[in-house]
Parts: sequence; C-alpha cells; structure tokens
Amino acid sequence: MEIFDPIEYKQMVKEYQDNDKPLDWFDTIYKIANGDYKKVFWADLEPNPYLMDWIKNHPIKKQNPKAIVVGCGVGDDAQALSQLGFEVTAFDIAPTAIELCKKRYPNSKVNYLVANLFEYDNSWFQNFDLVYECNTIQVLPGVYRTKARVAISNLVCKNGYALVSCRSREKSRQKDDIPLPLDKDEIDQFVLSDKLKEISFLAYDDEQVPSVPHFFAVYKRVL
Ligand SMILES: C[S@@+](CC[C@H](N)C(=O)[O-])C[C@H]1O[C@@H](n2cnc3c(N)ncnc32)[C@H](O)[C@@H]1O
Repeated sequence: MEIFDPIEYKQMVKEYQDNDKPLDWFDTIYKIANGDYKKVFWADLEPNPYLMDWIKNHPIKKQNPKAIVVGCGVGDDAQALSQLGFEVTAFDIAPTAIELCKKRYPNSKVNYLVANLFEYDNSWFQNFDLVYECNTIQVLPGVYRTKARVAISNLVCKNGYALVSCRSREKSRQKDDIPLPLDKDEIDQFVLSDKLKEISFLAYDDEQVPSVPHFFAVYKRVL
C-alpha cells in the first residue's frame, strides 16, 4: 500500500490479523506518510477536546503528576498534557510514529519512546497518575483487546485515572468492522474485571457526516 486506500487498508489489517500478526502492520501506516505527520490518516492533529476539558475541570492536585499516553501516534495528546504540566511518557509500537513525534516536536519535554503495551517495563506498573488511551484497543482483535485493556489498567497508580476514548458500537452489531469499536460490555470490563472505579461515562456521536458513535470514559484506581 503506497497511499492510503480504505479498502486496501482493511484488507491488509485483516490479513495480518488472520495470520495472528496483529501488531505487525502499524508501522506501515506511518511509513506511507513519508515523513509528513499530516498524512497519517487517523491523526486528528489536535488534542482530544474531551481529554482537555476533563483535565481542565479536574486538575490533579499533585506536584509533577505523571501521565502516559498509550499508542501515542503523532503526539498531539502527549504534547498537550506536557503543556498542562504533566511529566509525560508517550509510547507507540511503531518506530516511525515515534520518529515523526521527535521530528515534529524537537524541543519537547515528552519522553517519546518505542514500546509495546504487552511488554512494558516493570517500573511502569501502577506508576502513572493519568493514563490516556485513544483508539488502540479498537485496532486490535480478539484476546489482544483484553490483554491491552488489562495492560492499560495496570499502568494506573493508586488514586490515578485512566481516560479512555474510542469508537463505540451496539453489542452484536458491526462485528466484522475494522477498526472494531468497543461495545458497552467490553468497556465496562475496566470496572468489572480490572476493578477500577467509573468516575464518568459519556456516549456521544462525533461531528463527522455521517456521525460516528464514541465513548469517553474516566476510571480511577481506588483500591
Ligand atoms: C488508531 S491509532 C491511534 C493513535 C493515537 N492514539 C490517536 O488517537 O491518533 C492506534 C495506535 O496504537 C499503536 N499500537 C497498537 N498496538 C500497540 C501496542 N501493542 N503497543 C503500543 N502501541 C500500539 C499503533 O501503532 C497506533 O499508533
């Protein structure tokens, strides 16, 4: 795939998933952008407004709070969190994504690094006051989704928060979609399985035409 084509994209992802190599295609998307972060088709090129609103309304009362951005893509959310005073780690499995972030923000205080959500360093375990996940789970298939959710929850420190943004779907619909949006039962496992406390939950339709349903959820580790 040399330029982005939605049908070729879905076929490519399906092939990798069918061959149980669901992590091996991400870098391709960044490589075809050919050094231009604006050409990464899934990048909004601005921080998520729901993330920004939540933080502005719920400042974390701690000196140098630590945030981590999962699957950070081209870095808008990580950069914004850094500007809001967080000490930010932002990681992605795609080396080309991290190269783009470093080139885009040469003087950034964010620690951008290549890392796999499924194999992160033990020092990250329950180490972050704020964990931001946007659209990583939905690009994974089957058991990788559960593993991803657990790994995300395990980053949250005591009294810390996980903020989760994703596309959503009604249960038993769109089962073959790529990406596969989360249904309510799936996202509820942050509470039911991972024992985080739900602080707020928003289901909304975005402003695209036709609009796309989304969830934006906030969880807290209270135990
Ligand atoms: C749909 S993109 C979303 C990127 C970004 N969060 C955003 O909102 O624009 C999903 C990102 O997750 C990354 N990713 C997928 N699996 C990962 C893993 N196991 N560990 C780290 N990053 C992963 C991909 O490389 C990709 O950048």
